[in-house]
Amino acid sequence: MKIIVTGGAGFIGSNFVYYELKNSNDEIICYDKLTYAGNLETLKDAENNPNYKFIRGSISNRERVYRLFEEEKPDIIVNFAAESHVDRSIEDPELFLRTNIIGTSVLLDACKKYGIKRFHQVSTDEVYGDLPLDRPDLFFTEKTNLHTSSPYSASKASADLIVQAYQRTYQIPATISRCSNNYGPYHFPEKLIPLMIINALNNKKLPVYGTGENVRDWLYVEDHCSAIDLIIRKGKVGEIYNVGGHNEKTNLHVVKTILKILGKSEDLIEFVTDRKGHDRRYAIDPTKIETELGWTPKTKFDDGIKMTVDWYLKNKDWWEKIISGEYQDYYEKMYGNR
Ligand code: NAD
Ligand code: DAU
Repeated sequence: MKIIVTGGAGFIGSNFVYYELKNSNDEIICYDKLTYAGNLETLKDAENNPNYKFIRGSISNRERVYRLFEEEKPDIIVNFAAESHVDRSIEDPELFLRTNIIGTSVLLDACKKYGIKRFHQVSTDEVYGDLPLDRPDLFFTEKTNLHTSSPYSASKASADLIVQAYQRTYQIPATISRCSNNYGPYHFPEKLIPLMIINALNNKKLPVYGTGENVRDWLYVEDHCSAIDLIIRKGKVGEIYNVGGHNEKTNLHVVKTILKILGKSEDLIEFVTDRKGHDRRYAIDPTKIETELGWTPKTKFDDGIKMTVDWYLKNKDWWEKIISGEYQDYYEKMYGNR
C-alpha cells in the first residue's frame, strides 16, 4: 500500500514515518510544507530507504494536493500536518484556521475526487477542553462534548467536524484519533519538555507558566504511532479513538524530573505569567482503543522521560541548529518580558 503522511517532517509525523518504515512494507510518502516546525534533517535516516519519498507542498494548496493524488494515487492519507503550538495560536489565530481547517478540507476534497481507502485525521485531546484539577475521577471519553479553549484547539475541533461531515455525506472512509500530549525524539523546542531540557542544559531559567499545577497526560511518541498504525489497519470507518496512557503529571513535576535527571538545581525554575485561557487538566480514557483494537502503550513515563533526555544529550546538533536560527526571535517575543 501507499501511505501519504502529511506533516511527516514534524515531531510526531517523522516518528510515524520511521515507525512505518520499520514495521511495514508499505510505501511511505512524506508530504510537508516545511514550515518552521518541519525539518528534513529529522528524516535524513529515511532518505536512502527505497520505500520512502519526500514531496514538498502545502495541504492548503488545492492544485498541488490534486496533483499529488493524480501522480501518487495513495491508498491511505494520515493527516498530521498542522500548526500545533497553542502559544502561537494565541498570537496568530488565522494561520491555524487556514492550515488546520481549510488544509484538512482540501485533503478531503481530494479524497472525494480521486478516491481513498482510508483518510485518518490526527486530532488531539484538546478538542474536549479541560477538566478540573480537583476531580481526578473525570476523564475524556469519545463521547465527551467538544469544548475548546484556544484558537489551536478550536481549529482542530473544526477539522474533526469537517472530517465527520465528509464521512457521512460523501462516504469518505475516515477515522479520527484524539491523543494526549506526546514527548520523545525530534520534539520541537518550543514545547514544554524539549524547551526545559535544552534550557537546563544551557543553564537558562525554566519558564513555568502560572503555578505549574496544570496537568498533562504524557504519552511516549512511539506509543502514539503504534495506535495510529492499528487504527488505519484495523479501526472501524467513522469511529473516533482516544489515545493516552494514564500518565498524568503536573508541569512542575515534569520540570523537576528533568532537572533531577540532569543533576541541575531547582533554582533554575522561574514562574512566569500564565498562558491565556490555560487548560487545567487533560486526562484520556483509552478504554475503547484498548478493548476494540488491543492497543497498549509500552513506555512508562519514568522510562520515557529518561530516554528523551538522553536523546537530547546525544543529538545536540539537531536542536542547536534550530535554536540558533529564527527560534531566537520567537523566544525573545514569547519570554522576553513575560
Ligand atoms: P509539529 O508542529 O511538530 O509538526 C507539524 C508539521 O506539519 C511540520 O512538519 C510542518 O512543516 C507541517 N505543516 C504545517 N503546515 C503545513 C501545511 N499547510 N501543509 C503541509 N505541511 C504542513 O506538530 P506535531 O506535534 O508533530 O503534531 C502533529 C499532529 O498531531 C498535529 O495535527 C497535532 O494537532 C497533533 N497532535 C499533537 C500532539 C502533541 O503532543 N504534539 C498530541 C496530539 C495530537
Ligand atoms: O494535548 C495534546 C496537545 O499537547 C497537542 O494537541 C498540541 O499540539 C501540543 O502542543 C500539546 O499542547 P500543550 O499546550 O499541552 O503543550 P505545551 O508543551 O505547549 O505545554 C504543556 C504544558 O506546559 C502547558 O500546561 C503549558 C506549560 N508550559 C509550556 C511552555 C512551552 C510552561 O509552563 N512553560 C512553557 O514554556
